[in-house]
Amino acid sequence: MMRVEMRPLDEGLLAPVLEIERASNPAPWSEASFRAEIGSTEGEFLVLLVDQRPVGFGGYWSVVDEAHITNVAVEPESRRQGWGRRIMEELLRRAANRGMRCSTLEVRASNHPAVRLYESLGYQAVARRRRYYPDNGEDALVMWLYDLTTWKT
Ligand SMILES: CC(C)(COP(=O)(O)OP(=O)(O)OC[C@H]1O[C@@H](n2cnc3c(N)ncnc32)[C@H](O)[C@@H]1OP(=O)(O)O)[C@@H](O)C(=O)NCCC(=O)NCCS
Repeated sequence: MMRVEMRPLDEGLLAPVLEIERASNPAPWSEASFRAEIGSTEGEFLVLLVDQRPVGFGGYWSVVDEAHITNVAVEPESRRQGWGRRIMEELLRRAANRGMRCSTLEVRASNHPAVRLYESLGYQAVARRRRYYPDNGEDALVMWLYDLTTWKT
């Protein structure tokens, strides 16, 4: 039996999280950006461990009643196994249980796997920010999940 858990980011998980980030994000967050999420009260940042091995992570910031998804990734060799969905579902449940009412995020317009994942969770693309990403000048899609309250448990 696989043991699956979601744990808040801590100092000991920084190195594997950075490694996953660098393999996943064309403009990776710095170590300082991840460290700033440790113990944050403005949101949550969780690491997914499978048999105690970190395979992915995700986080959000609370902005009044909006959960802003800040970063989500699964290590390349563990994709398409449902882990990304699992991370997102946990974030949405927790945000809803903390009283947030909707959720938003930005995603690269060409990032079909992520867009498909978000759409399958109920997010809709509502706007496009032109040339939003400085590394390659790509547009961002702005996505919204209008009703987070259905995720309350
Ligand atoms: C986006 C990401 C987190 C998805 O993680 P994952 O564990 O592979 O996703 P899941 O296995 O849970 O897939 C969930 C759904 O996402 C969609 N999806 C995921 N990968 C896909 C792909 N390569 N092509 C099309 N759809 C895809 C599908 O709808 C899938 O559901 P299905 O398997 O029932 O068809 C992962 O691809 C990743 O880390 N990408 C790099 C980082 C990134 O882009 N993060 C998002 C930044 S906004």
